[in-house]
Amino acid sequence: MAAANPLREGMHDDRAAAPAVFVIFGASGDLTKRKLVPAVYNLAQSRLLPQGFACVGVARRPKPDFAAEMRESVSKFSRRKPLDAATWAELERGLSYVQGEFSDPATYVRLREELERIDGARGTGGSRIFYLAVGPDQMTTIVRGLAEAGLTPRPSGVAGEPFARIVVEKPFGNDRATAQAQNRELLTHLHESQIYRIDHYLGKETVQNLMVLRFGNRIFEPLWSRGHVSHVEITVAEEIGVEGRGKFYEGVGITRDIVQNHALQLLTLVAMEPPASWEADAIRDEKVKVLRSLRPIADAEVARRVVRGQYAAGMVRGDRVPAYRAEADVSPTSMTETFVALGLSIDNWRWAGVPFFMRSGKRLARRVAEVVLHFAPLPHRLFGGVNDAPNALVMRLQPDEGIALRFATKVPGTGMALRDVTMDFRYGSTFGSSSPEAYERLILDTLRGDATLFTRADEVEAQWTCIDPITRAFEENRVPLAMYDAGSWGPVEADALLGPERAWRTP
Ligand code: BG6
Repeated sequence: MAAANPLREGMHDDRAAAPAVFVIFGASGDLTKRKLVPAVYNLAQSRLLPQGFACVGVARRPKPDFAAEMRESVSKFSRRKPLDAATWAELERGLSYVQGEFSDPATYVRLREELERIDGARGTGGSRIFYLAVGPDQMTTIVRGLAEAGLTPRPSGVAGEPFARIVVEKPFGNDRATAQAQNRELLTHLHESQIYRIDHYLGKETVQNLMVLRFGNRIFEPLWSRGHVSHVEITVAEEIGVEGRGKFYEGVGITRDIVQNHALQLLTLVAMEPPASWEADAIRDEKVKVLRSLRPIADAEVARRVVRGQYAAGMVRGDRVPAYRAEADVSPTSMTETFVALGLSIDNWRWAGVPFFMRSGKRLARRVAEVVLHFAPLPHRLFGGVNDAPNALVMRLQPDEGIALRFATKVPGTGMALRDVTMDFRYGSTFGSSSPEAYERLILDTLRGDATLFTRADEVEAQWTCIDPITRAFEENRVPLAMYDAGSWGPVEADALLGPERAWRTP
């Protein structure tokens, strides 16, 4: 028999997930249908869920056929198709629904009864994960309701005792002050170790691979500093517009929606020092140190260091699409930004003088998320000016996940001409199997009690410290709003941000 190919089989992960009931508040919402229940199904299919696992949906509306609705969502949104009837049947046996207003104490009484019934029937042992797939305005109501019903006791530290963990979605606050207030409120009812603040970018395979690339290899880290890197570029670009979320998006904008969390997380992973261990807090300590080293953008500087944009009508992949201001629930005079580009400086030994440029936008030419390390030009050019593009390491996070290294090579022939080539690693072709979705990994981590890929209170607050001067300047209209055509790479003003010597990479 041929030996199994470990690359094709994938890595086995045997950290056990503890038996628990997974409770979703906001069970009738989009996130539940598109992401959460399909992720739970895929975990079941990968045989990663603990024995007796059960899932309870909680929402306001009556749902006589919750299971059938969820089955339909899984068939539509799961990464694996078609639906495997046996896996679904097993999952469905542990699926139930509790209807109620989040502000009504009776809802939590009914929920408690349902959880006790499940514990008795399935031997789940009293542990629960409460996933809050709801708007930020409902978060504190639910946390209070759960605490008052005695459903979220603080851990006493006794090994093996049942746990109660809360998963909260972004947006976490609207600025530093509201994030702090939210943290304070959560911490009156819970211990920090019970709180899992989700940033789904951290669940993406390739985002985790940023740490492996740096700290699991010898060859990159010696070059990973101001001595060799000229600048870093982080792009999170989307083709989609606001997709019917105009009401949410107005007054939020891409800086709060993407940069405050996803893009800044990428920056911290690229810039952090090696952690002392692979423990959640060791890693998060290093990330917080990066955030605290970010040079604050002074009010007088925002207009020079930040470009804000909004999409006008245009063509995306051959389709005519409307301007942001013509989207449903968007004001025709809206000043909300759908594009932002900025330059950040990290004031520490490793990165002093190396600018980190970030851009993020909706309705751009392509969906792509990537981080590029641009290396400094050679100190002396032996081969003349033929090779003008210095080395670059491109970490493609999505789609088409992989890592590419650009370097110069000799063009075959009798002359001494040089050309840039790339050495390209592609996840898909090397491992041959599709990566789990971010939510699969993150849900599993909540069951395992591993908070490494979740954002700590001080981390989220430090992210806002960086963003607040920017959003404040936008709100006070101190930064002009540059229009760009949908389907382009954003406003031309973003090019000037990099200075005359540099240009954004066209992915
Ligand atoms: C979410 C934002 O956090 O991330 C959305 O609220 C955005 O506006 C989405 O579309 C992008 O996620 P992904 O995984 O598709 O890159």
